[in-house]
Amino acid sequence: MSATPHSSDTRTAGTLGPEPLPLSLLVNGEVRTALADPATTLVEFLRDSLGLTGTKIGCDRGACSACTVWIDGEVAASCMTLAFDVRDQSITTIEGLSHEGKLHPVQRAFIEHDALQCGFCTPGMVMSCAHLVDKNPRCTLEDVKAAISGHLCRCGAYPNIFKATLAAAAAVDQDRSA
Ligand code: FES
Ligand code: FES
Repeated sequence: MSATPHSSDTRTAGTLGPEPLPLSLLVNGEVRTALADPATTLVEFLRDSLGLTGTKIGCDRGACSACTVWIDGEVAASCMTLAFDVRDQSITTIEGLSHEGKLHPVQRAFIEHDALQCGFCTPGMVMSCAHLVDKNPRCTLEDVKAAISGHLCRCGAYPNIFKATLAAAAAVDQDRSA
């Protein structure tokens, strides 16, 4: 028996539209609602509809990682994700990484170690490095390199990004052991 798509199945963007529809997403702990075309990518929705411009668009085709966010706590390229496909998930952007007014240790370490030049790759880099440090504060240089292997930094800030991430990891590890 062949599977017939049910008319009420709205889980894939292909069954929606073409007119804009209201879309509610859980972003940085808040439900945010705006009209969106079904073909809208997550990064477009974040930036253009919600005004969360911290997440950058570099290549817009999954090749640079500038648009990295967390979806249900895992890193993801928001230019390769349809906004309507993450309605049941929790999105964290660079704007949501600080906690109670305190920067994430990786954000602090990027400042302290001068781990950026133009800053365009930085939000995406920070999201991937913070994900690594939160999961494994005993990470090695090889782990950091692997975590940001998909990220392009045209300014070549990699050495200080490595230093900053390892310093943040050491600080988090010390805090957790205290
Ligand atoms: S903008 Fe998404 S990977 Fe480059
Ligand atoms: S700091 Fe300029 S692209 Fe990375």
